[in-house]
Amino acid sequence: MQSMKIAPSILSADFSRLKDEIQAVEAAGADWLHVDVMDGHFVPNITIGPVVVEWVRKVTTIPVDVHLMITDPDKYAPDFIKAGADWISVHPDTCANPNATLNKLREFGAKASIAVNPDVPLSKVEGCFRDIDMILMMTVFPGFGGQAFIADVLPKIEEVRNIIDQRKLPILVEADGGIKADNVDCVVKAGAEVIVSGSGIFKTLDYADTIRQMRKAVVQA
Ligand code: DX5
Ligand code: ZN
Repeated sequence: MQSMKIAPSILSADFSRLKDEIQAVEAAGADWLHVDVMDGHFVPNITIGPVVVEWVRKVTTIPVDVHLMITDPDKYAPDFIKAGADWISVHPDTCANPNATLNKLREFGAKASIAVNPDVPLSKVEGCFRDIDMILMMTVFPGFGGQAFIADVLPKIEEVRNIIDQRKLPILVEADGGIKADNVDCVVKAGAEVIVSGSGIFKTLDYADTIRQMRKAVVQA
């Protein structure tokens, strides 16, 4: 089993105290910070833009993982990279030519990732494997924090893990949506190594204890 990285999604943080929230999860043992960017067009919700990422970057030292749920990543991704994003995930439907978009992310200095919705087969993104550093397996439909985990995605996570291992591809597997201390074990067992958790961390009282519980659940699995 791969070692697990935990990436709290700030979407569920208290934005009136965003700096404190970020520093609290970092001190609690978070490995990365996940930032959900929504434009009210690709998904029916609006969240944050590059200005916020710039300030997030200033108050944390851990990698900033930006998940773009926007219709025009080609236009806006460079702004997020300039603002300090280390990782950028894009959805294939939002790119005229996903390979070109992913290569541009790398040229601009970010690690490139492709996001796979619960109803999208791996065959749709296999052509991108040479251009990605990570694949983001969605375990909810994008748009909102706090949704229920879709367990039907687990076999697809196993499938991508097998492909990556068999072909020895340098690609991380990230899972995102509805993951909490009580189900993280099955996600990691299926093959994910970067675990996004928004409400599963920020809606709990003691972040350090929650992250500890998540790590313990995985070790025991
Ligand atoms: C969904 C987002 C997720 C979400 C995770 O559109 O991409 O990152 O905020 O939040 P939870 O863990 O609450 O499902
Ligand atoms: Zn996300």
